[in-house]
Amino acid sequence: MMSASYVIMPRMTSNHDLLARSLSAVWHPCTQMKRHETLPLVPIARGEGAWLYDFDGKRYLDTVSSWWVNLFGHCNPRINAALVDQLGQLEHVMLAGFTHEPVVQLSEKLRALAPAGLGHCFYGSDGASATEIALKMSAHYWRNSGQPEKTRFISLQNSYHGETLGALSVTDVALFRDAYGALIKQNATVPSPDWRAAEAGESAEAFALRCADALEAHLQQHHVRLAAFIVEPLIQGAAGMAMYHPIYLQRARELCSQYGVHLIADEIAVGMGRTGTMFACEQAGILPDFLLLSKGITGGYLPLSIVMTTAAIFQAFYADEAARGFLHSHSYTGNPLACRAALATLDIFEQDDVLNTNRDKAAFFNRIAQPLSEHPKVRNFRHTGMVWAFEVDTPHADFAQRCFSLGLQHELLLRPMGNTVYFMPPYILSEEEMQMLVTHTLAIIDALS
Ligand SMILES: Cc1ncc(COP(=O)(O)O)c(C=O)c1O
Repeated sequence: MMSASYVIMPRMTSNHDLLARSLSAVWHPCTQMKRHETLPLVPIARGEGAWLYDFDGKRYLDTVSSWWVNLFGHCNPRINAALVDQLGQLEHVMLAGFTHEPVVQLSEKLRALAPAGLGHCFYGSDGASATEIALKMSAHYWRNSGQPEKTRFISLQNSYHGETLGALSVTDVALFRDAYGALIKQNATVPSPDWRAAEAGESAEAFALRCADALEAHLQQHHVRLAAFIVEPLIQGAAGMAMYHPIYLQRARELCSQYGVHLIADEIAVGMGRTGTMFACEQAGILPDFLLLSKGITGGYLPLSIVMTTAAIFQAFYADEAARGFLHSHSYTGNPLACRAALATLDIFEQDDVLNTNRDKAAFFNRIAQPLSEHPKVRNFRHTGMVWAFEVDTPHADFAQRCFSLGLQHELLLRPMGNTVYFMPPYILSEEEMQMLVTHTLAIIDALS
């Protein structure tokens, strides 16, 4: 029999009760808390597959994969089983001076999957910690290599790489940055190849090349002080699912090599199959100096981030002096449970031939989404891999909030950015669920445009 200390008493709760307690005790992220006086929080009791349920059984289709993390559904039986097994062996051990099977296996598997040459995995927790690690590692590499003046970074306009202070210094979203400007090192941005900004008649490829010219001009002038260029490959998520042609990444790789500046590929949102290939960089055929992973790496279960890098970077730190080593750590670095969830996630990719299956799913969705893409109030309907986005021509300045609220009434968890609606669903969406997503979104757009 279980001892009493292991028994968790189910707490009888209701939607109303949970909301009141949450507003009293929890400071919610990315939120003006006063807004919840009029816009209620959404209580979630449980999840199953692509669905989230409240305490009354009301359900919502998680079309944004819970902030872009969930790949194979909530409470996935295979990931659950792996975690239960791991719980019986080792929940955590510090990674400085110690090692364990899940972290070694995960590093080996990622090395085999990632663009060849990324042989070393450094572990963090959330996505922003991966950005911090890559920025520090890049600058420290140059210091160890006799170029300590290379301490600046560049990123794309409207880029998003996280919200800790270092990550904010390469994030170009005014709302997140402005209040903290005095605390942040000011880094420059270069034009985004987001094809929505192309001239009339200019192809996405031609526009990407024009933006690469601007990158070259910047590198030419500033490369002496520049450590790295950090970029979200193929899709700038927080910019409103801004998509661009892979030729930009090819040119960026050539130019960074030419001017002695690292290329950091932030695949925190776009890695793990999201763009149609395991890693977005594959579509440009490039090897970045750093590749950042988080979000979907654990299937959306636990915080884990990984900075993958090359032997050349690793070797610059390999020395007798402690100060030449990479001096960075988090208590939960390489947590065994998170690594085990990541291993179970990679197993599902292999067992279910996920990349090919997703290709068929995306083709099916594109077919049934035609009434959306051709809707008179829909602009720039676009798609890459398992991401879809479009702008809505709407008279409502508060479209995002209205769309979110109306979405809930239609059993959809939609989280537009401004007037950009996007779908970034778990990969397990069925044809029926996809059809429902299209039909209900059409009804919402008709109501708000
Ligand atoms: C491209 C990119 N980089 C970094 C981050 C930060 O990740 P986290 O929210 O886990 O800190 C995000 C989060 O949305 C992201 O989309």
